Amino acid sequence: MASTPPSHGQPHRTPPQQHGHPHVHPVPRHPRLDPLADRYAARTHGMKSSEIRALFSVVSRPEVVSLAGGMPAVTALPLDAVGSMIGELVSGMGAQTLQYGSGQGDPRLRERICDVMALEGITDASPSDVVVTVGSQQGLDLVTRVFVDPGDVVLAEGPSYVGALGVFQAAEARVRHVPMDDDGLIPEALEQVLLECRANGDRVKFLYTVPNYHNPAGVTLSEPRRQAIVDIADRYDLLVIEDNPYGLLGFDHEPHRALRARNAQRVVYLGSFSKTFSPGLRVGWVLAPLAVREKLVLATEAQVLCPPSLTQYAVARYLDTQPWREQIKLFTELYRERRDATLESLDALMPPGTTWTRPDGGFYVWLKLPHGLDSKLMQPRAVGAHVAYVPGIGFYADGSGREYMRLSYCYPEPDQIREGVRRLARVIEVELDLHSTFDAVDTGTFRAVGRPGTAPGTIVGPASSDRIEDTHP
Ligand SMILES: Cc1ncc(COP(=O)(O)O)c(C=O)c1O
Repeated sequence: MASTPPSHGQPHRTPPQQHGHPHVHPVPRHPRLDPLADRYAARTHGMKSSEIRALFSVVSRPEVVSLAGGMPAVTALPLDAVGSMIGELVSGMGAQTLQYGSGQGDPRLRERICDVMALEGITDASPSDVVVTVGSQQGLDLVTRVFVDPGDVVLAEGPSYVGALGVFQAAEARVRHVPMDDDGLIPEALEQVLLECRANGDRVKFLYTVPNYHNPAGVTLSEPRRQAIVDIADRYDLLVIEDNPYGLLGFDHEPHRALRARNAQRVVYLGSFSKTFSPGLRVGWVLAPLAVREKLVLATEAQVLCPPSLTQYAVARYLDTQPWREQIKLFTELYRERRDATLESLDALMPPGTTWTRPDGGFYVWLKLPHGLDSKLMQPRAVGAHVAYVPGIGFYADGSGREYMRLSYCYPEPDQIREGVRRLARVIEVELDLHSTFDAVDTGTFRAVGRPGTAPGTIVGPASSDRIEDTHP
């Protein structure tokens, strides 16, 4: 019979010795890999490497076409101009730019942030309502620290931004996904989930939503639904966290009006310069009602004292002196071309049964595999064929999403995208062949896919699978 292993955290005791006293070994007989394993806080147990970071070593290999990472095309920036601007900031204003600053962030930058938000209809924000953060990722973390206790419920689209799920997990929140379709989050489903939470006695702290060019789904919340969601928030006393890093990256239209522009009290808005300027500077912000804002400043002071001065000055100077609106236009033209290369290749090459969204802004296409295929299991074969994507499972808190994958078109050149999609289509075909060998695929279930004329943002494919994800079980 196998002997019982010593329990973790207890020094291993040998049987009583001849002289009658137990002897305690100072070192366990089976030393653990991590000697501090028993001491970590409970909140670390849910922490895991994201599907995206796990892929980093693979996607940096030159032979691999990466449709995985969401890295902005920073080489399209005027790098020399940005370089001299930052150099001048240090040589001319070193006393401020290399010094500690305010916990809430540089006042000049906060003014300019209000100008940026005005482009999305937020015209009533004052610089004193803005808290500058280290990317919107820190904004997410601060908001979660301020609102969420372990066991609280956070509502989030299914699928959801992987970095937000990581923050919620670290806070020991319970995430309930709300389904989306090609018009974004479904208001009726949100109401249904809220009613269920009410019936269960769950403490719902907020709804986390990415209304524009969703990461990873690529869809955008329709205008009528924006009002419907704000109305639901009012009726159900729901706080909404609107995460909007891609809002100015629409391809064919003016920016959508933010949820925050419709309700200043119920919506906390997260913004970022990562996609419109540079992710490496790590500058984002939170716009929140006064009482929330005060707590956010206390939380940020406890966490980082103040956001970095130099990068804040750099962003403020960039907005003051460089043609940033034209630069955003240039970015969107470049991303539109890459989106087109992606959709044209998918339309031409993907086998029947594969469906995908048609984004009209942002970085991502959300692809659904033919019935029976699993993007996580298929991943090693794809990497072997020199193409990388992010498996859908990373975008759900409940382990679902295996039939989906996220494709990013923001970084590779159009030719690389076409080659990457060609390789991916081949991998899927081989996978399908394998499945049909075992009679696992009902190919008759699906109608033709990749209809080129389909409206932007539409999830194409089987009538029965228009929803990206069902409600949480
Ligand atoms: C939806 C969403 N929110 C937040 C972030 C984090 O961005 P930042 O670089 O501003 O921290 C990202 C980054 O990809 C994102 O896609």
